[in-house]
Amino acid sequence: MTQSILITGGAGFIGSHVVRRFLKKYPEYQIVNLDKLTYAGNLENLSDIDKMPNYTFERGDITDNVFLAGLFFKYNFSGIIHLAAESHVDRSISDPDAFIKTNIEGTVALLNAAKKHWNNDYEGKRFYHISTDEVYGSLGIEGLFTEETSYDPKSPYSASKASSDHLVRAYGHTYGMPIVISNCSNNYGGNQFPEKLIPLSINNIKTNKPIPIYGKGENVRDWLYVEDHADAIDLIFHEGKNAETYNIGGNNEWSNIELIHKLCEVMDRKLNRPKGDSAKLITFVKDRAGHDLRYAIDSSKLQRELGWKPSLDFEKGIELTVDWYLANEAWMNRIISGEYEKYYETQYQKR
Ligand code: NAD
Ligand code: TYD
Repeated sequence: MTQSILITGGAGFIGSHVVRRFLKKYPEYQIVNLDKLTYAGNLENLSDIDKMPNYTFERGDITDNVFLAGLFFKYNFSGIIHLAAESHVDRSISDPDAFIKTNIEGTVALLNAAKKHWNNDYEGKRFYHISTDEVYGSLGIEGLFTEETSYDPKSPYSASKASSDHLVRAYGHTYGMPIVISNCSNNYGGNQFPEKLIPLSINNIKTNKPIPIYGKGENVRDWLYVEDHADAIDLIFHEGKNAETYNIGGNNEWSNIELIHKLCEVMDRKLNRPKGDSAKLITFVKDRAGHDLRYAIDSSKLQRELGWKPSLDFEKGIELTVDWYLANEAWMNRIISGEYEKYYETQYQKR
């Protein structure tokens, strides 16, 4: 029988890569992409595959209980891969409410819909919650986040994701729901909304605008190519153990300033600019409030137990990423001409 899989947030950055992967690799699955199409959701991310026979798009809000009940009735999902979220830390600082609503209440609404629909028959069912390494808080200059690291979220975004993780685990423990969770480090690649560091910087370099670096640029992130995250999600969805958590990371730490220098080098080459030209755009601006110093993931459990490892090194990943944004200028321009521009102005005029 055809399995019906619900992917939430499939019009967003990571979700679109997951939807594409599942559609192509598993033609026997019926994939339903549920997305509200917030400012971050863009159906253009899926324009190459949206005519595939095993794909359906449903526009809706994960906080809408009535809508969710109807959706579960219509498609009889056996699997849920839950990515829909408000995902940008800076927005969570200026408007936390949307994060509480979508990330916490939305996740509970989905859990309730699944629980009610499955009605204690959990055979062949799976609720997979996609989360972030930011739930663990901030590291000093040493150490790595493991699955045993205590939760210590510091931003409204990470606190809302931590709450949703706790609730998913609680539904597993209390009601026996078959759940699995993964916590991933920063992703990069094509289709990322240009409010996040890498696409924002690529676009600013291309258009000769200042590259805003918060504080001194010493904060460290562990960058993973988005296709490698999609690969890990595929593996965990199919082979992850019930009720387990898996950390996913690139083993690829960069301070923001080093990362931007690397990006400037690649951009100089791709745009035929003299060496050092793009780096002149680097501009230090006021730091983010409560800015986490360092995230770094120990993904050895996933490597050991399920045999995953990142396929690309950063040199290759950043080349592919820059190539994608340069080849998809129209995608970027359409985003920049809309809502994003207003947001950009309010975000950076204060700094
Ligand atoms: P994104 O902001 O690009 O996409 C989020 C998607 O969710 C959008 O398409 C949006 O329209 C949709 N959405 C938002 N609110 C919704 C609602 N109420 N109902 C239905 N749809 C809604 O985010 P992303 O970067 O692709 O992140 C996806 C998931 O992965 C999130 O859960 C995020 O916490 C997690 N994550 C992201 C990263 C990263 O580096 N981007 C790293 C680790 C984990
Ligand atoms: P971001 O892409 O927002 O991801 P996250 O906050 O979830 O890690 O930011 C990555 C890092 O880059 C983070 O340390 C904040 C910093 N940053 C800047 O220095 N300038 C910017 O304009 C942005 C968006 C981020």
